Amino acid sequence: MTTSRTRISKAVIPAAGLGTRFLPATKATPKEMLPVVDKPAIQYVVEEAVTAGLSDVLMVTGRNKRPLEDHFDRNYELEQVLRDKGDGTKLARVEESSDLATMHYVRQGDPRGLGHAVLCAAPHVGDQPFAVLLGDDLIDPRDPLLARMTQIQEQHGGSVIALMEVDPASIHLYGCAAAAPTGEDDVVKVSDLMEKPSADEAPSNLAIIGRYVLDPAVFEVLRKTQPGRGGEIQLTDALQALASDPSLGGPVHGVVFRGRRYDTGDRGDYLRAIVRLACEREDLGPDFRDWLRSYVSEEM
Ligand code: G1P
Repeated sequence: MTTSRTRISKAVIPAAGLGTRFLPATKATPKEMLPVVDKPAIQYVVEEAVTAGLSDVLMVTGRNKRPLEDHFDRNYELEQVLRDKGDGTKLARVEESSDLATMHYVRQGDPRGLGHAVLCAAPHVGDQPFAVLLGDDLIDPRDPLLARMTQIQEQHGGSVIALMEVDPASIHLYGCAAAAPTGEDDVVKVSDLMEKPSADEAPSNLAIIGRYVLDPAVFEVLRKTQPGRGGEIQLTDALQALASDPSLGGPVHGVVFRGRRYDTGDRGDYLRAIVRLACEREDLGPDFRDWLRSYVSEEM
């Protein structure tokens, strides 16, 4: 068994997708840069990794993704203008994203699926457990998920995935897990995984949400994983192999998340995420909620 229990410090964020659901906004701008209130979606994800103690972040990017690199780098000209104006608040906002984490980038080249994107991280990650965060899922910082997952990984070794109970009618949008209870209320042992099953095939209503803490053995499995659903190399299929044979890289556990998650994957979800997050904001929330209440009562 290659189960490894080193302290986890690296996060991998796949960001090579074309974002076609948001065209034309994503014609020349990566979808990860679309603002959620006033921050690009990707910054929430990097902040989440850093809060969980993972300050080495590798982004798996592709063509047209330069704005991502620029966002997490210094912008000396803008900083100087704001400094000259004495606008410390805005200066801090500009500097925030470049001071967040140690950023690294690798290009995926051919977009051959999430499993392939994760495999592109192998040379950077090396031989230690690491986290994967998908940018379409935002997790509320008040409901820490990743820190709990790294804790479970350190306790049991192997890999840990984030699960959430969803309406069975929407399980076909997710990877789905068959799992057994453990002694802990929010932790299950995963025995089977299926990528985007139909409601009839689904072994449960436990959906994989985009957070993973993986044993590096997953790379060897991914190298052998054949294209699956959609003709893509699926991370879920590699995890299924790990779950069904723990001698490959330890067990697979799931942390069942019951906190606040905001999906930004399609236009409707993206709008809902912005409204929810804007309502929650201390600076914008009170006015925005008042406006929303009167808008809804007048317009609906
Ligand atoms: C990916 C994974 C899927 C997971 C989902 C979570 O699918 O393949 O298993 O449930 O992310 O957001 P995608 O939504 O990228 O098609």
